[in-house]
Amino acid sequence: DKAATAQVIVSKQHLADGIEEIVVHSPVIAAAAQAGQFVRVLPWDDGELIPLTLADWDTEAGTICLVIQGVGTSSIEMNAMSVGDSFAGIAGPLGRASDIHRYADDETVVFTAGGLGLPPVYPIARAHLQAGNHVTLISGFRSAGLLFWTGPDERVAALQREFGDQLEVIYTTNDGTFGVEGFVTGPLEQLLDAAAAGTGRTVAEVVTIGPPMMMRAVSDLSRRYGVKTVASLNSIMVDATGMCGACMVPVVIDGKNIRKHACIDGPEIDAHIIDWDKFLPRFGQFKAQEKASRERHGL
Ligand code: FES
Repeated sequence: DKAATAQVIVSKQHLADGIEEIVVHSPVIAAAAQAGQFVRVLPWDDGELIPLTLADWDTEAGTICLVIQGVGTSSIEMNAMSVGDSFAGIAGPLGRASDIHRYADDETVVFTAGGLGLPPVYPIARAHLQAGNHVTLISGFRSAGLLFWTGPDERVAALQREFGDQLEVIYTTNDGTFGVEGFVTGPLEQLLDAAAAGTGRTVAEVVTIGPPMMMRAVSDLSRRYGVKTVASLNSIMVDATGMCGACMVPVVIDGKNIRKHACIDGPEIDAHIIDWDKFLPRFGQFKAQEKASRERHGL
């Protein structure tokens, strides 16, 4: 179920500053995709490999949807590509699929998505809804100007229409310009408190995808309540081949320090075993090289 042939961009939508949604004809991957998986894009011959989480796919149309934030030279240039252009190759689907359990009717699966965490969260939340679970989506953005997928004709609203009361959505913005003011941890704490007090749904599981500091804050909070939490760590991957070592995640299991690789063992990793003090600095490891590369390319 792997594919690696040239694949054409069939549609493209500007979502927010520096963020594009790109739909690519890729029928083999679309047919095999499962929630939580990612692909490895070779944008052009001799380019660098770019791992991207599957934000959506359409088996009938044979397309996959990628949401790309232009941060490095390659992602900025990928976002400048047009409908009709082709990527040199896309391999996938890769990574372990999300573990989807059917939980009890009085439980909920809580997603905390920070900014660009919403696209990778979306198919996992949908899979839980399709399995019959109640889902609470807490989707946070820095400010109202950075919102995407939140309008009445967009994906989150479509899920709400399809699944009704099975899905609760809470938006947060850091500056209070949309939804609840503050971070995703605010509503999460209220849900965990209500569950502990017996006045709200039991939180079966928390899934967190977003900026590293946010994932850590979510992990620290849910640990206090003893609620299983997984972090999806695609954002740390570089080549997603298991060989570069860039995606190493320091974890502690039974008091032993162990290394996991997000691209092989993940992308989802139990957030409560991650040694966040050691892990967080790794997210900035290529900042200087990315900046130098952008400057070389005049971006
Ligand atoms: Fe290179 Fe995982 S991304 S080893």
